[in-house]
Amino acid sequence: MLIKASTPSSVLLVCLGNICRSPTAEEIFRQQAAIAGLAMKVDSAGTGDWHIGHKPDERARRHAKAHGYNINKLVARQVSADDFRNFDLILAMDAQNLADLQVLKDSIADTNDSANITTKPLAKLALFSEEDPTYGGDDVPDPYQGDGQAFEEVIERIESSAQAWIESWKTV
Ligand code: 4NP
Repeated sequence: MLIKASTPSSVLLVCLGNICRSPTAEEIFRQQAAIAGLAMKVDSAGTGDWHIGHKPDERARRHAKAHGYNINKLVARQVSADDFRNFDLILAMDAQNLADLQVLKDSIADTNDSANITTKPLAKLALFSEEDPTYGGDDVPDPYQGDGQAFEEVIERIESSAQAWIESWKTV
């Protein structure tokens, strides 16, 4: 497959807890990138710190497994300043995650400016649904307080939006 020169070589998926949406997105993105023949580092993290070191939520693991995605081995972590230096693209599951990431990115840029540090550009930030013709602009809704249907919707939306990003990197 021919890909655009601007295709990122590393993508970080971010939600609030890193136990429901973003670990699911990490595995779906990894599988879809592999199928498309894209060599890409894929990881996930949360903006919050409550679940650091935890496995994905049991409901997320069960629903993912039913769709062929094994997320049992993933371990939650919190997003860090280094992530903005180590990833080309950081994708937020919802608008609040995106706003929180933007604050963090701005503070890193300000710190670099005041210390006169020039680095390679910090990671580009975007909403996970940004390229998706079906769900573009929507949040991947937080399923934590939801039922089984909420977890199914997470998978449906993530499959769709991940595919849209990969399509956007193919040359026509
Ligand atoms: P996630 O879901 O952001 O998709 O991992 C959540 C997990 C935990 C909490 C909120 C959302 N929490 O409040 O602990």
